Amino acid sequence: MNKRESKSPGKPREQWVTRIGLVLAMAGNAIGLGNFLRFPVQCATNGGGAFMIPYFIAFFLLGIPLMWIEWGVGRFGGKYGHGTTPGMFHYLWQHPMAKYLGAIGITIPFCLILYYTYIVSWTLAYSVFSFTGKYFGVHGHELMANFLSAYQGTVKNQFFNGIGTAYLFFLITFALNIWILSRGLAKGIEWLANWALPTLGVFGIILMIRVFTLGIPDPAMPANSVMNGLAFIWNPDLTALGDIKVWLAATGQVFFTLSVGFGAIQTYASYLKPKDDVALSGLATASANAFAEVIIGGSIAIPVAVAFFGLQGTQAIAKGGSFDLGFFAMPLIFQRLPLGELFGTIWFLLLFLAGITSSVAMAQPMMAFLQEEFKVERKTAAMILGVLMFFLMQPVIFFLGHGFLDEMDFWIGTFGLVVFAIIEVVLFIWVFGADKAWREIMTGADIKIPRFFLFIMKYVTLTYLVVLLGVWLAQDGLDVILMKHVLPENYIYVWFARFLLTGVLILMLVLVHIAWKRKHRIKQVVP
Ligand code: PHE
Repeated sequence: MNKRESKSPGKPREQWVTRIGLVLAMAGNAIGLGNFLRFPVQCATNGGGAFMIPYFIAFFLLGIPLMWIEWGVGRFGGKYGHGTTPGMFHYLWQHPMAKYLGAIGITIPFCLILYYTYIVSWTLAYSVFSFTGKYFGVHGHELMANFLSAYQGTVKNQFFNGIGTAYLFFLITFALNIWILSRGLAKGIEWLANWALPTLGVFGIILMIRVFTLGIPDPAMPANSVMNGLAFIWNPDLTALGDIKVWLAATGQVFFTLSVGFGAIQTYASYLKPKDDVALSGLATASANAFAEVIIGGSIAIPVAVAFFGLQGTQAIAKGGSFDLGFFAMPLIFQRLPLGELFGTIWFLLLFLAGITSSVAMAQPMMAFLQEEFKVERKTAAMILGVLMFFLMQPVIFFLGHGFLDEMDFWIGTFGLVVFAIIEVVLFIWVFGADKAWREIMTGADIKIPRFFLFIMKYVTLTYLVVLLGVWLAQDGLDVILMKHVLPENYIYVWFARFLLTGVLILMLVLVHIAWKRKHRIKQVVP
């Protein structure tokens, strides 16, 4: 593994070994359950073709600029030996507050991993259930829902008599994550991305071909066809554009799927060399993710569901959420396909690979933080992370039926990332300075980004983000905060979820405080 002296005292930092490895790791970071489960559902519940217009607008005005900003901030921090946002922000803004704002960039990915890993473990389980044909013979939406609920331990029935199986798959997935992280950047994360991403691509293409050769499964229902499913996504319906909800959903999806606004891209980018390109690689990551999402993700779940359940049926399924489409509708479809066991295994393994390459990316900020700011050995850091993760994941697993996971997802995956994105744009473009920020992004660049993107970053991206947050607060914000949609018996669990998130944030703030007090005598000058 190449190592390099960083400008900060201490151990040399790890680095990516090859450029392709880096881009695959970044793509693995971005491409996740969001591409294959969240995207189809968001698209189907927000008007199909109508969704795609705000989606692409948000992709160009927010997604790509933020991707460049995060790569730029990350590589910049790496130069000073910091792989996490407290250190990065410290150098962008010479103010004692900066590092505390940065603490959010560790809290968000760490809290995300607490529930994301659990969902990833379901995909592993379902790939085994597909292979062994465990759910074959379970017909109908309701029974499939019972199957999942019993697996998750919220009810007991003929399929599972407790949470044991789910817990076992959780332990396997959890252990795999920690093992990969403990092997380090090159031997763990980059190694994983080097084989998992190409495999995922092959699986995606196999499934796409299967879907495209389906035609019309039931000749009595000619409208239920793959073509109609594709038409639903690709025929723009301009009338839905007046609906602010569609804009909010599309923007939220762009953030989630690109992993921007989390703090995770910055950590991966911090392992670049100071003169490595970020312009082309950042664009390549965003494009690879968009391809995996719109082309591969968009060609599997929705078209196949439309072919089997019709357009209205598909929309109704999608209304139930990401899990309904992935874990009820798809298994029902596999049962009706020749070699369904095989296709089911491939679909869920695809989800698993997409998921695990993302979950390690969520954990790496915490790893880097412990290693760099507390000088903890890598293996010890992985152990500390593992212990913390293990305990904090228990409420997610056992209180799933009480909306615990949904509450966490809301604060992290909808609210937190917008707030954090606003903070980082303000710090990098406005406080650090637009010209310096631009030079930072363009250093070593392999493509020339048109300068009007600076204008976009400076005004459009920021305004867009602030308006988005404002509109959301005015529209749904208060209802969510006041738990208007929560059943009274679940109040206590929702409060517990909020308590846990706040607790992690406070813990991070305290850790940042201690780290800076203990050993950091960072020069108060920007070189
Ligand atoms: N982008 C990932 C997905 O689509 C989620 C993710 C968020 C991964 C933040 C890493 C960091 O599922």
